[in-house]
Amino acid sequence: MKASTSRPHQRQFIVWSFFFILFLCVIASINEVRFDGLLKFGRCTFLNSSSHLSNDSFSNASHVVATNSSSEDIRILIGILTLPDQYHRRHFLRMIYGTQSPTGAQVDVKFVFCNLTKEDQKVLVALEIMRYDDIIILNCKENMNKGKTYTYFSSLPEIFNTSDRPYPPYHYVMKGDDDTYIRLENLVKSLVPLPREDLYYGYVIPCRSMDPFVDYMSGMGYLVSWDIAEWIRDSDIPKNHLEGPEDKVFGAWIREGRRAKNRYNAKWSMYNFPVPRTACTHELWADTIAVHLLKNQEKWIETLTYFNVTANLKPSKLYHIP
Ligand SMILES: *[C@@H]1O[C@H](CO)[C@@H](O)[C@H](O)[C@H]1NC(C)=O
Ligand SMILES: *[C@@H]1O[C@H](CO)[C@@H](O)[C@H](O)[C@H]1NC(C)=O
Ligand SMILES: *[C@@H]1O[C@H](CO)[C@@H](O)[C@H](O)[C@H]1NC(C)=O
Ligand SMILES: *[C@@H]1O[C@H](CO)[C@@H](O)[C@H](O)[C@H]1NC(C)=O
Ligand SMILES: *[C@@H]1O[C@H](CO)[C@@H](O)[C@H](O)[C@H]1NC(C)=O
Ligand SMILES: *[C@@H]1O[C@H](CO)[C@@H](O)[C@H](O)[C@H]1NC(C)=O
Ligand SMILES: *[C@@H]1O[C@H](CO)[C@@H](O)[C@H](O)[C@H]1NC(C)=O
Repeated sequence: MKASTSRPHQRQFIVWSFFFILFLCVIASINEVRFDGLLKFGRCTFLNSSSHLSNDSFSNASHVVATNSSSEDIRILIGILTLPDQYHRRHFLRMIYGTQSPTGAQVDVKFVFCNLTKEDQKVLVALEIMRYDDIIILNCKENMNKGKTYTYFSSLPEIFNTSDRPYPPYHYVMKGDDDTYIRLENLVKSLVPLPREDLYYGYVIPCRSMDPFVDYMSGMGYLVSWDIAEWIRDSDIPKNHLEGPEDKVFGAWIREGRRAKNRYNAKWSMYNFPVPRTACTHELWADTIAVHLLKNQEKWIETLTYFNVTANLKPSKLYHIP
């Protein structure tokens, strides 16, 4: 009984709602006011599906217009382990990475260090964060080979555990050195065909070896899939083995935990700077993902020059650089 009498009301309500939403959409589009929430709710797809729905703020409407949907992009976190006092190095690396814009990926470069220890750091680092928001301060005491890497990887699942991010927050997380130059476009290209789980990627040690299943990946820059960061957080194996060369120790965890059935040796796209020549060096060449041991300004300049990083400087009356 009740159902049969309420049906016409329901229909009326639906019709009225429809016109009301249509009305709101018309108002919104006429005034070009961005009623984000309302539009998202009603989608307004019946108005004009190609009008203004393809923008980022309407991420849920991305199916409406085929764009390079960012939800398909590979998400990569590059944590560069450094020290709080390395202000100039960070400034330099921000330029190096801020001027690269790889397609098909979201690459976040962050600087990672342990607890601040000096009064001036509290001001200077806080200012940096206010300006750049690219710093992770872990709960640890600065060290190179006594667990900083463990703290880094094992803290990530909690640090990026927020409901407003997709899962996993990053498909891949990398640990990089601050004397390594990473070419993001090539890094992304090399990752596209690779598995997004159980992956251990980098420059195989020893230098002459090409087999990623024998030893470990060099600390210049190695990358793992998110599930391995979660495993590092949860397993007792890394917890019980913190001391020693961080890259080698990392490889030992992976071996002991029988992780990383997927491995990728990025040699010789990753290598040490050509001078001084060793078994780990390679000439600079176009097919480069990372160059390591850029220990001084000359080496950086030679590398950046080789890769034409300033070739796209836009002409302007404001400056002239021969
Ligand atoms: C939808 O809007 C776009 C641009 O705003 C316009 O080019 C296109 O013709 C419109 N399509 C329809 C079906 O009205
Ligand atoms: C998306 O937004 C940008 C600026 O944020 C604007 O230039 C562009 O026209 C918008 N695209 C559409 C399809 O409305
Ligand atoms: C929007 O997208 C997110 C993740 O892609 C999804 O969880 C959510 O349910 C979507 N919301 C709507 C209203 O479609
Ligand atoms: C989408 O991205 C790919 C590379 O990721 C690029 O080749 C293509 O031109 C892009 N398409 C558009 C429409 O921007
Ligand atoms: C790091 O700092 C936090 C808060 O300032 C403190 O609670 C923690 O004990 C410190 N950790 C170490 C290892 O010193
Ligand atoms: C993430 O947050 C949820 C809800 O607050 C919590 O239950 C879960 O344990 C957290 N996971 C990690 C890895 O911190
Ligand atoms: C840099 O530019 C020069 C001159 O245009 C070109 O010959 C060279 O191949 C470029 N180098 C790289 C690594 O792309």
